[in-house]
Amino acid sequence: MSSSRKDDHVRLALEQETAKLRSRDFDDVRVVHHALGAVNVDSVSLDVEVADRTWTLPFYINGMTGGSEFTGKINQALAIAAAETGIAMASGSMSAYFKDPSCAPSFTVLREENPHGFLMANLSANASPEQAREAIELIDADALQIHVNAVQEIVMPEGDREFEHWGGHIKAIARAVDVPVVVKEVGFGMTGATVRTLSSLGVAYVDVAGNGGTDFARIESARRADRFSHLNGWGQSAVESLIDARGASRDTGIPLFASGGVRTSLDVLKALALGAKAVGIAGGFLATVREDGPEALIREIRTWEAQLRSMMALVGARNVEALTHTDLVLTGSVREYANARGFD
Ligand code: FNR
Repeated sequence: MSSSRKDDHVRLALEQETAKLRSRDFDDVRVVHHALGAVNVDSVSLDVEVADRTWTLPFYINGMTGGSEFTGKINQALAIAAAETGIAMASGSMSAYFKDPSCAPSFTVLREENPHGFLMANLSANASPEQAREAIELIDADALQIHVNAVQEIVMPEGDREFEHWGGHIKAIARAVDVPVVVKEVGFGMTGATVRTLSSLGVAYVDVAGNGGTDFARIESARRADRFSHLNGWGQSAVESLIDARGASRDTGIPLFASGGVRTSLDVLKALALGAKAVGIAGGFLATVREDGPEALIREIRTWEAQLRSMMALVGARNVEALTHTDLVLTGSVREYANARGFD
């Protein structure tokens, strides 16, 4: 993975943020208001337990970048905000490090700026168990994200065309590393069937990473003249994926993280109410930190924290688990998806 490719990803993802291309499945999830149902704001806890640690916020900075000088600076800004707010965060793919170890500082800065925070390493499902161990060690990671990105590869003429080994690699990595493995999409969603398969491979958490936010089919096709645009908008949203996969999550005991198109604290509330244990944000936080630096991201995270606490009080949820009892009404295309997949 060339460093210019990583720089392109950031530039094109930021263009998407500005263009606000995304669909808004979160708007098809309505929260029913009960006028006498609120609890005291001070009685609300945002804590969630992940990998034997307590996250004081049920949302996190999702895997984005590293691998070049420019993206190292972005990682530094993200890590400063993470250290200040206590938010968990993930590195971008560390495959770049195995191609060119001289880019290590763009990843190690994540730990230097945030020595005590919860940090996830990130690799593709092509990685070997040895590479997984090395990536974890490099940034002293508390968990490992493995991304599965078949759509992104297919859109790239030079991308991977072999995928059948991914399951075996995921299983081997999960066995070999001593931190929990989170398997994530990169913005095309997951199904219940996928969660069941991942359960049999020894995965600890699944991030559904749905569409409607950063769109890697669009990003990769925008990087070349011969655009493969049929796949723009491919896949399922975070909302659809949660509806699809929450039965499998219950049955297998694998907690779900949700991400993809999360741009407000209300989106976080809705994803948690649909059963996510925690909620990831990539493109939205990237835009904040690029435009206005770590201080702006710190303010944004604190604002979301306060808003989420107030809204949880409104729906009578003293903790994140209690949010799953929120009365929700599904409308529009989300309702259609739920009906078509047999989840009405
Ligand atoms: C990403 N994402 C990503 N995911 C991953 O697992 N490894 C990676 O290296 C990257 N790289 C990356 C770069 C940039 C610039 C962005 C914006 C995103 C995907 C990310 O983690 C997430 O799954 C999707 O972006 C959807 O979430 P948002 O952006 O809609 O919040």
